[in-house]
Amino acid sequence: MKKGRLIVFEGIDGAGKSTQARMLRRKLGARGRKVVSFREPSRSRWGRELRAKAKSEGSLTPLEELELFVKDRRENVARNIRPALLAGTIVILDRYYFSTIAYQGAKGLDPERIRKINERFAPKPDLVFFLDLGASAGLSRISGRKTRDLLFERETYLRRVRRMFRDFQGPRFVHLDGRRDKRELGREILARTLAVLEG
Ligand code: TYD
Repeated sequence: MKKGRLIVFEGIDGAGKSTQARMLRRKLGARGRKVVSFREPSRSRWGRELRAKAKSEGSLTPLEELELFVKDRRENVARNIRPALLAGTIVILDRYYFSTIAYQGAKGLDPERIRKINERFAPKPDLVFFLDLGASAGLSRISGRKTRDLLFERETYLRRVRRMFRDFQGPRFVHLDGRRDKRELGREILARTLAVLEG
């Protein structure tokens, strides 16, 4: 059985996940907690392949993409996440299987099936923060040098992804407005995390 705690950050590109994940890790560390963080896609060969292919949009079918994200996650769970949880460490994740449900679901794959595939091997998180932001705001934050057509296509897609994220409801899921001041958001995230760690 796991002894640590699993805290996840989710949201569309540019929503501020990485910043908040880093801030939470630093604050928990400063309080003397044992904490590690990982991101997905990971640094493994599958993660590297995904990042390389993400740059040439459309080079994988949605199903091939799903398979790669799942392979990458299997390795991340086995090598990093599960051992840390067993050692009683707090694990912070910048993206997890909710991203697969939302991003690959928004490409037409069955969200429920994606969830089941993942929950067969991936530990369920204790807390998931969804940083919510509009697709155009997210895109302008990451300021890629894409053509107008590509940006338009991406915005339409991210709008669907955002809707899928918003559908996650339940006691472990916290939706936060990504437009809020990042330090103020960080304080709320810390307070909610401590409540779960101490509860
Ligand atoms: P991310 O790490 O957020 O990008 P960055 O390179 O800016 O750090 O993730 C890369 C992309 O992969 C992002 O657009 C979301 C997508 N993604 C999926 O489509 N499915 C998944 O399961 C995951 C983890 C990410």
